[in-house]
Amino acid sequence: MNTNDNHQASVFLHTEHRVAPVDERIFGGFLEHLGRAVYGGVYDPGNSLSDERGFRTDVLDVLRPLRMPMVRYPGGNFVSSHDWRHAIGPRDQRPRRPDFAWSSIETHQFGTDEFMQWCEALGTKPMMAVNLGTGNPAEAAALLEYCNLPAGTSYADERVTNGHAEPHGVTMWCLGNEMDGFWQAGHVPAQTYAERARVASQLMKGLDPSIETVACGSSARELPSYLKWDRTVLEHCWDTVDFISAHRYSRNPHDDTKSFLAEGIAIESTVNDYRALLTYVKAIKNSKHNVHLSFDEWNVWYRATSEDGCWQEAPHLLEEHYNLQDALVCAQYLNSFVRNADVVHSASLAQIVNVIAPVLTRPDGLLIQSIYWPFKMLRDAMSGDALRVSVRAPEMSTRSRDVPVIDVAATYDEATGTASASLINRDPEASVDVAINIAGSSFDVVSGLVITGDPKARNEWDAPNVIRPATADIRVDESGALHVVLPGPSHTVITLQSSGLS
Ligand code: AHR
Repeated sequence: MNTNDNHQASVFLHTEHRVAPVDERIFGGFLEHLGRAVYGGVYDPGNSLSDERGFRTDVLDVLRPLRMPMVRYPGGNFVSSHDWRHAIGPRDQRPRRPDFAWSSIETHQFGTDEFMQWCEALGTKPMMAVNLGTGNPAEAAALLEYCNLPAGTSYADERVTNGHAEPHGVTMWCLGNEMDGFWQAGHVPAQTYAERARVASQLMKGLDPSIETVACGSSARELPSYLKWDRTVLEHCWDTVDFISAHRYSRNPHDDTKSFLAEGIAIESTVNDYRALLTYVKAIKNSKHNVHLSFDEWNVWYRATSEDGCWQEAPHLLEEHYNLQDALVCAQYLNSFVRNADVVHSASLAQIVNVIAPVLTRPDGLLIQSIYWPFKMLRDAMSGDALRVSVRAPEMSTRSRDVPVIDVAATYDEATGTASASLINRDPEASVDVAINIAGSSFDVVSGLVITGDPKARNEWDAPNVIRPATADIRVDESGALHVVLPGPSHTVITLQSSGLS
């Protein structure tokens, strides 16, 4: 095909062909004590942009529209050598400690209770991780007691003494972080971790049966222990955990746009690997219990990779500056989570401010990065049930494989009669004219938004709106069929309203 030709593609949907309800927790975030994520990111006391608690109000204002239902905290690698008792109580008595994970200095001026207050200010819920690296199950249960139990036992009473009479009510708990990774403090073989995680989950659920727990799965598909680790953990912990985690960071090592934009294939394969594993373990356990996937770290991350904070407080670490093609990869993660709503019930964009994040701060303001927009566009549009998507599209050749030029996810919300589709055109050299055939109801177009441009374009401090949604090119042809033109490359989200049965 000539590079100037346009592609033609078709998408077939039916409002009754549903996968599962989309769990809104797939739109979660992640805040770690790492670099300038907390200090100088969400917390910046003394700054004129901060409130009396030290929370950056400009950051809250820009994160609020993302409506993240949960934010994971306090790590990440940080949590695996973190003593939670250092992060509570009067600030002037909190210790200044070296952080093993990021070779940084942690002052603990922002800790558990401040995080809970910050979540309330944002309008989100906490998803806490416990230390199962250098920590043990009893310490994890003690943190659960501090956070969730009513007054009357010593750790809960300590919370009350610290000014929080009511329990924080944290409903989702990660049993450690990336314990399969050789880089993780306290990394152990899968069976050892599985035994630790099971005891921790049992102790924690013994104190608060309403919680859900997440066992550590694989940190990367490329690791030799991929899925074997997960199988061991699931076989040992199946009945006591609710989630297994997966992490993935996408890279563009060859600076090759087409290959990079094929990332969605690997993301989808990862989710499918877990679907197979979860089905297998459930079957051999002959269990009624279900375990789902918590994709609780995902993003693009390959430029700012230094992990050495040189023993500074809040060093500049992992401050990726994102471009359009990075955003198009992020859109593919979210499309995959929506498409596989039966498996993925939780996911966390890693991370939210400064550190591999949609928002960068300076003392005098902030910059919204390209990856902010696909998240917002999908969060605003996707609701109800994920629909099965059938796509007829030409393929694009890339370094390692041929891939369909478009990536599509769709939802239908029976309660509101709203249908939405999220479409990515991977081809940087040609637009795609997509005919959308949706059966089960007739629909009117409500809105359509698109981000597009040079794959390397990015928002800059002196040009902050280079990547920003514009109105999508949607038309209805003579036969009533809906067409949307996807520029190359781009991400488009359209929303339709049912006008009755077709
Ligand atoms: O998000 C940055 C780091 O990536 C996290 O601390 C760790 O869990 C992962 O390796």
